[in-house]
Amino acid sequence: MNVVVAGTGYVGLVTGVALSEIGHNVTCVDIDEKKIEQLRNGIVPIYEKDLEMLLNDNLMRNKIAFTTNYKRAYSEANLIIVCVPTPEREDGSANLDYLFKASKQIAVNVKNECIIVIKSTVPIGTSNKIEDYLRSNSMNNVKFEVVSNPEFLSQGSAVRDTFKATRIVIGTESEEAKDKMIALYKDFHQPFVITNRSSAEMIKYASNDFLALKISFINDIANVCELVGANIDDVAKGMSYDDRIGPKFLQAGIGYGGSCFPKDTKALHWLASEHGYELKTIKAAIEVNENQRFKLIKKAKTIINRFKNLNVAVLGATFKPGTDDLREAPSIPNIKYLIEEGATVTVYDPVGTNNLKEVFANKIRYTTDIEKALKDADVCFIFTEWEEIKVLKQAVFKKLMKRPLIFDGRNCYKLNKMSDVEYYSIGR
Ligand code: UGA
Repeated sequence: MNVVVAGTGYVGLVTGVALSEIGHNVTCVDIDEKKIEQLRNGIVPIYEKDLEMLLNDNLMRNKIAFTTNYKRAYSEANLIIVCVPTPEREDGSANLDYLFKASKQIAVNVKNECIIVIKSTVPIGTSNKIEDYLRSNSMNNVKFEVVSNPEFLSQGSAVRDTFKATRIVIGTESEEAKDKMIALYKDFHQPFVITNRSSAEMIKYASNDFLALKISFINDIANVCELVGANIDDVAKGMSYDDRIGPKFLQAGIGYGGSCFPKDTKALHWLASEHGYELKTIKAAIEVNENQRFKLIKKAKTIINRFKNLNVAVLGATFKPGTDDLREAPSIPNIKYLIEEGATVTVYDPVGTNNLKEVFANKIRYTTDIEKALKDADVCFIFTEWEEIKVLKQAVFKKLMKRPLIFDGRNCYKLNKMSDVEYYSIGR
């Protein structure tokens, strides 16, 4: 099948590459010329395991192409997958400007009957609006069919998640569109959930918000564990054997970040309130998460009065391991606070340095060598559970740091392995 993918962000690029890998002919469109040039040369501008290798394989096989010429790409298209960003507005609602801009370009340029697949995360009802918009703005009197097809891949495991996704959700009431979508994805061999567009859109928000709620729940319980002498790791393990609960997303820490959970919780809460309904569970998840971000620094303040002139080692900055993405990373407000307090901050992150430099410029020091970060540090904060950090032994902290005082926001180590250092974590 010939497929056009609009937008080469995380979702668009991974989707395009995966579809080319299973044999479709994919053209990826983006307005960013520099990025398109890089992708044409087989360079992936984000850090994502296996993606560059697959991209190069499919460039060699001529199964995937990149262009900024959307007019040409859309004029020949029969199936366009829209993967443009839907960022958060100040009031918490989703900003659909990119989506409507892409829709306008599609309406004006598409010449043949075309299925428009909305993969971007959009408020419930958006696919209906886009279809109305396309049909009334079509320059060539084209029959458009809009399908909602949300994405469930996670950064850091995006390629694996795409090939081994738990389900493919298809929101359409058109038999023809449904058959085309099944043909598009059949070689992924995953279960299909076929429903109407609004339900498909809701499946995406409800899934992300439920996971965010699960994290905030375990963090809330972790905070109580600290007060009553329980250990959250043991509590989560004990809960996880119940298969109605399961082991995943029960890792307590300093809260969730990234480009999805913070945005999608606020967007659904906002949408419900627009309909006169207060989503109290999601509101609580958001509030718990906002407080949780500062949990570790508050704990540190009970032990260290002032950070002024202290050497602070920060281990891990990205919102989770396996990605260079810093969006909504809990590390950011914490590092900002440490700078404001007058600390000298050295950050170790294996892949996040370039993005960190855009946020902090010369206000902090950067290293990709953990030992350099720890050398002569008065205190250490851990914000991301990179494997390189998790394998450290307490002897390393003891040997290198001026004072082996460690605040671990991701519970990287067993308590009994850290008995010779001053070690504080979450919920234990
Ligand atoms: C999330 C969802 O997991 C994907 O299913 C979804 O497709 C994606 O959003 C999206 O909407 O595009 P992602 O944001 O990449 O994926 O990352 P997650 O692995 O879900 O982690 C999000 C945050 O939660 C991270 O900051 C992570 O550290 C935190 N987290 C996760 C915890 O604090 N505890 C846990 O037990 C799990």
